[in-house]
Amino acid sequence: MTLRLDYTNMMAPSIDGGITDTEWRDAAARFHAAHRAVVDEMTTGSLGFLELPDNRALHQQTLDYVRGARARSGDDALTDVVVLGIGGSALGPIALRTALRPPQWNLLDDDARSGQPRLHVLDNVDPANILALLARLDLRRSLFVVTSKSGGTAETMSQYLVVRHRLATVLGEPAARERIVFVTDPEKGALRTIARQEGIAALDIPSNVGGRFSVLSPVGLLPAALVGIDTFELLAGAAEMRTRCATSTLDANVAGAFATLQYLADTRHQRSIQVLMPYSDALRDMADWFVQLWAESLGKHRAPGDAGFGPTPLAALGATDQHSQVQLFMEGPGDKTVTFLNVEQGSDDVEIPRLHQDVPELAYLGGRRLGELLDIERRATAGALARRGRPNMTLTLDCVDAANVGGLFMFLELATAYAGRLYGVNAFDQPGVELGKQFTYAMLGRADAGAARDEWELLPKPDPARMV
Ligand code: PA5
Repeated sequence: MTLRLDYTNMMAPSIDGGITDTEWRDAAARFHAAHRAVVDEMTTGSLGFLELPDNRALHQQTLDYVRGARARSGDDALTDVVVLGIGGSALGPIALRTALRPPQWNLLDDDARSGQPRLHVLDNVDPANILALLARLDLRRSLFVVTSKSGGTAETMSQYLVVRHRLATVLGEPAARERIVFVTDPEKGALRTIARQEGIAALDIPSNVGGRFSVLSPVGLLPAALVGIDTFELLAGAAEMRTRCATSTLDANVAGAFATLQYLADTRHQRSIQVLMPYSDALRDMADWFVQLWAESLGKHRAPGDAGFGPTPLAALGATDQHSQVQLFMEGPGDKTVTFLNVEQGSDDVEIPRLHQDVPELAYLGGRRLGELLDIERRATAGALARRGRPNMTLTLDCVDAANVGGLFMFLELATAYAGRLYGVNAFDQPGVELGKQFTYAMLGRADAGAARDEWELLPKPDPARMV
């Protein structure tokens, strides 16, 4: 896999207010300690995401399931795979589909998809979308992948109940059970219990792998394998990136450099909004995946009641957002870093025809290629930001293939683990989402939500004087 980070435009003096050489040198020791801590955590077995590229048994379990599902389908090949999940259980599969399947995958006909199924990810409980999809599916030829690490997330469980009921009504039991597979904790949670009781197939998310770090477990591998993505290459790319980041020398560790640059930009230069901006439609959903990873991992209290820490990630897309958010990046508050995601060889390029040669606004485009235009626009935007003292860096992949995408996932996961250590927060929990969940349980009358119900009652009631 190839991945290169150019951070020239993050540094002073070329960027006024950029990171100084002294800050960078001083950060090397801090990074060394962060790296050490991550290695120690890995050694104690608590950072399961780092072990996933070597977990042959888990990969084999996934491939065996896929083989069995295809065999069971027989001549009636699967047409649709539907992932039910949210957060880390959904964003990885979405990013994988967009990056590693041809554009508009779900709109292609069976031949263009080489007989592989479409892949839908239902990552919300908006009934309109769920009903619309269920109405279109041939349930006999669909497979529902219910993904939840905890095995009890309200949104995913609700989707499951709706789907399970629909399947049982249309197909009857036990055919309904064959149309469902769970991806969940190996021991705990409601899904695991149901799987055991009812003999529903279930793949494991290792207990030491958290939701947003789970894309290289069956959470991502199962949907990927079902739609024909090369999961061996995906894992090999991730393993290669992990090896590349084995060094604690800041200048040699690409994920460490990214994490440290973002950390210094935030904590020394008040650049707390950190944009990831792919110039590649294939990588556009990687930005959303990164937003969850960076936000949920790093936005934390260090001690109860403190002011809170952490950068705010933002997703953008080049060139589209040059006509939207880039105005803000250029002239709005100087509180941002922009990381461009660049791909050297895009998909097949398209030459722009030499039409309207007498119209100056069009003539200069004739004979250029669309990929070339995209690349020039990225360089122009990076240069313009730099010229205005707005720090930015560029991550370059030579192409979008499974190895590079696996490497990119590992790169960003490792960077997040390092950043957690640099900030002094636990990157692997998410206590802040708990209160909202408890209030939801309280309003839905869940039996164990008594305390949340009492706390809910303490909230100010809507005040008619404050409504317009
Ligand atoms: O990263 C996380 O842990 C979360 O975003 C989870 O992925 C999300 O809350 C869904 O949880 P679960 O997989 O347990 O259903």
